Amino acid sequence: MENLHGKTAVITGGASGIGLAMAHRFGAAGMNLVIGDIEVPAMEAAVAELTAAGYQVVSLQVDVREIEQLRELEQVAVETFGNVHILCNNAGVGAGGPVADPDNLEVWRWTIDINLWGVIYGCKIFLPAMIAHGEPCHVVNTASMAGHGSAPFMGAYSVAKYGVVALSETLTKEMQIAKTNIGVSVLCPAFVATGIAKSDRNMPAGLRPEPVDGPVAGGMQAAIESLVANGISTEVVAEAVHDAVRENQFWILTHDEAKPGVLDRAQQIVDGINPSLGGFA
Ligand SMILES: NC(=O)c1ccc[n+]([C@@H]2O[C@H](COP(=O)([O-])OP(=O)(O)OC[C@H]3O[C@@H](n4cnc5c(N)ncnc54)[C@H](O)[C@@H]3O)[C@@H](O)[C@H]2O)c1
Repeated sequence: MENLHGKTAVITGGASGIGLAMAHRFGAAGMNLVIGDIEVPAMEAAVAELTAAGYQVVSLQVDVREIEQLRELEQVAVETFGNVHILCNNAGVGAGGPVADPDNLEVWRWTIDINLWGVIYGCKIFLPAMIAHGEPCHVVNTASMAGHGSAPFMGAYSVAKYGVVALSETLTKEMQIAKTNIGVSVLCPAFVATGIAKSDRNMPAGLRPEPVDGPVAGGMQAAIESLVANGISTEVVAEAVHDAVRENQFWILTHDEAKPGVLDRAQQIVDGINPSLGGFA
């Protein structure tokens, strides 16, 4: 999709972090912006920031777990700006807990509902009209390097992110078979400096997970918080997304140092080598 100027981008989870940086980058390219996010104060601040930068922006409070709320977002986008051209299914949360713990079932459901079902719903609601209007379009689904390798105690997150990778691969093949105007990318960052480690700020009341006990699990949580805080900037990620949309690049792997892990895992699979703890033990 070469010409972005005057076109419209919808970004879920656009009130902060990677989504807000994408909004800034697409705004700078002259696009109209449609922000859907669950966190109203952050969204109001984001809209003020984007408007002050001179961009055309509309927003709606949306919980991506609810397909009807995504339908409302699509209606607002079309009523305000006309056809949608870029869809960024980006809203996500970091949570999980041990697989064998029966008490964190609702945290698992919340994580997968947002990180996987939110992306599925976004595709189902926005794609029919994007295909029908026939102008060049692009879908960017935010997965993670957790969609290419699983860390202990982050099972719900990895299950969802592997799912987003699979969904995106399937979608791009279907769009090619149908000879549509839709390009697809899947964004797979490692650590990015955002609010993801504080995702429980958006948890429904009563769902706060207990801190995971034990030196390995406790150490993991502290390590993740530190890795996120020291992650790459959201601007670097947004630039990579912008370039991938322009060049119709499917894979967006923002961290070169994480790429050997993808190869190692594939090699272990074909060699029949059992998954090991690596640096976690
Ligand atoms: N930060 C990282 O290290 C990292 C790495 C890989 C992938 N990701 C992915 O990037 C995406 C963006 O996360 P981020 O790092 O910018 O974190 P963030 O917490 O800064 O931003 C996430 C946004 O999603 C919104 N959100 C949460 N639940 C929602 C819901 N139910 N409906 C609508 N909006 C909701 C939040 O309000 C927030 O604005 C996520 O999908 C995340 O999994 C992040």
